[in-house]
This record gives sequence, structure tokens and C-alpha cells, in this order.
Amino acid sequence: MRNFELETFFSTWEFTARHHMTASDMESMSLGDLLSLADPQDRKEFVELSLGYTQTWGAADLRELIAGTYESLSAEHVLCLAGAGEGIYAAMRVLLAPQDHAIVVVPNYQSAETIALEVCEVTGVALHEHNNWQLDMAEVEAAIRPNTNLVSINFPHNPTGALMAHKDLDALVALCRKHDLYLFSDEVYRGVELKASDRMRQVADIYEKGISLNVMSKAYGMPGLRIGWVASQDTDALQKVERYKHYLSICNSAPSERLAVIALKHRDTILDRNRAIVARNVVELEALFNEFPGLFHWQRPKGGCVAFPKYTGPDGVEAFCKSLLKDSGVLLLPASVYKSELMDTPVDNFRIGFGRGAVFAEGLAAMRRHLESHYGEFRKAEGQRGS
Ligand SMILES: Cc1ncc(COP(=O)(O)O)c(C=O)c1O
Repeated sequence: MRNFELETFFSTWEFTARHHMTASDMESMSLGDLLSLADPQDRKEFVELSLGYTQTWGAADLRELIAGTYESLSAEHVLCLAGAGEGIYAAMRVLLAPQDHAIVVVPNYQSAETIALEVCEVTGVALHEHNNWQLDMAEVEAAIRPNTNLVSINFPHNPTGALMAHKDLDALVALCRKHDLYLFSDEVYRGVELKASDRMRQVADIYEKGISLNVMSKAYGMPGLRIGWVASQDTDALQKVERYKHYLSICNSAPSERLAVIALKHRDTILDRNRAIVARNVVELEALFNEFPGLFHWQRPKGGCVAFPKYTGPDGVEAFCKSLLKDSGVLLLPASVYKSELMDTPVDNFRIGFGRGAVFAEGLAAMRRHLESHYGEFRKAEGQRGS
């Protein structure tokens, strides 16, 4: 298997860097805080839980709550998995065969392309920075071959924070329907858009061969639960993924299922809190970039809690990220981590995360100090700031 560059980078740095400024998940909650939201019955069920195996499809009440997050689905349209990562792996393995062809958005969360590449031929379609990271529907159409079986998208997008316009999503669904393609849609950041009116519909609601991937990890900020799911009207496709899951996690963690039930019952409270964090942090981030206009080209992301600004300083983004980490303990992801086998990817950008609370504020302060001491000549003069 190809090395998973991003996760390899994280296993070295995620828990050792002083300031983790590239996290792709929202601020987490403590177990105590989550349990304090629960009603007495849910708390009792959690404490008295038997630690046996659970159902491979996921607990019935959990699947029902998840189905309730879609417009038109019921529990039978939901299969629970151990995180979104398992969903990508299992779905690509069962939906694609060696004679097939898949189309994947680039740049991407690497397993979206590498698992597909383990199985069949894959074509990338680029999100271009000059086009505000939008998917060009003509490029998708041009990539379709007679043996294309699946299109894989991810919006809100990691790493750019892009969203598709509603009309573009409709056009993509129409294209997939015309060519009878699966549309695999990684929607793990859905719920923390900066403007509610930009929130995209979920493909499982609008397309009979749409497969929506989601998880408690990102917008909800609970990756430690390892509860993810795929949702689809296509129950045959779900059944195939379920068969594959028998070789992977087999079933979910029992305590995590109970905790996910509590979280989903308080979904609005949790997502409101997280949207407020993102809205505040984006403004802070933008203020820092505006202070150093010669160093950064920043487009405000539309959704999720990561962005992919361009670094325009003379030393290049790889050296910048290295010195920021070495001298100031601030961890970012340089462009090289997002290299693709399918096509060239941006070489001057870096991923920064803005979903965390105190960690973000401290990391931003450390980043500002670093910029002031190493790149003082790029700082806007006092009178020009605030523009
Ligand atoms: C777009 C995207 N999909 C899937 C995943 C995997 O999520 P999980 O940790 O729940 O397996 C990630 C994690 O960063 C991601 O960014």
C-alpha cells in the first residue's frame, strides 16, 4: 500500500508540536461535559452498558438518529463504521473493481485517491485556486470514460474549505445519473459552514446512487469516538460495505455508540458552539494574514475548519513551515503533504486549522511572534493596518 503521507506526518508531530495549528477537527468536549448534556435515562444506559459486541450495522437508535440528520432517509439507509477512514477504505474496495475507472477531486484527503488507485485506474479533477477552488463541471464530464463507475468528492473540502454552489451539485448529480455513476461524497465537515445558506444538501438525499460519508470526528469534534457512517438509498451498496466491515472493525465500540447517541440528541447545541468558534477564529486568522500582506494570499474558506492559504515569502512554504515548527513550535501542513499521484498540486500552500479554542489562540499568538521576529520587513506599517 502507498504510504499515507498526511497521517505519517501527524504520527510524528501531532502530539509533540507545542502548537497544533493544522488540526482538521473541531474543539473536542470532555466526556464529563458530554454526559452533562444527557438526560438521566441516557446517562444510566451509558453507565450500565454491557461491554459486549455490538451490531455490525450499528445500534438501532444510533442509526435512527443518524437517519434523522438527512431529509428523507430511515435507519435502513445507514451503516455505521469506525470513523470516516474506514468508510473510505471499505466503500472504495467494494464499489470499485479492477476493470473500473474512478474520478477523484484533487487535492484530497489522501485515501480518497490512494485506496481507489489500489483497485483501478483513477483520474483527478482539480480544484483550482484561481477559480476559488471550484470544481469545473466540464472537467468532470471530460474525465468520464465508458468504464467509469464512481465520482468521489469532498465538500466542505479538506484542505481548501471550498463548497460547491447548489446549482453545481445539482449539475453533478445529473451528470452522474446520466452515466449511472456512484457519487461518493465525503461530507465530514458539513455543519460548520460560515454561512448557513451555503450548506450543501447531502447526496444520499438527492441521488439514488449517492453515498454520503459522515462521522462524529470533524464538525462534532469527537474523533476519539471513532463513530462514522455511510448513508445511501442504495441498500445493496451498503450491504456490500457491511460484508467488508466483517474483515475490519466488525462492529462499533459500545461506549462510543452511547456517547454518539447523546451527542446527536444535542446536535444543535454542539454545532452552534462549533460554528461560533469557527466564525471567531476565521476573523482572527484573517487579521494576522492582513498584517503580513507580502507573505500570504488568503481566500476565506466557506466551510469546515481548515484553509489552504498560499505562502508567497522568499524562502518557500516548505522552509517556512519547517522554521515555524523548529523555532516556534507551530505545526502547519506544507503543500508537499498534499501531493497527488494524479496531477500536479499547489506547491506554495499550507493547511491551517481554525476549529480549536484556547489551542488556536495560543498557536496564533506564537505564529504572530514568529512572523514579527523572522519576517518583520513584511509587516504592514502601523497606519495601514485594519484595511
Ligand atoms: C476529508 C476527510 N475525510 C475523512 C477523514 C477521516 O476521518 P476519521 O478520523 O473520522 O476517520 C478525514 C480526516 O482528517 C478527512 O479530513
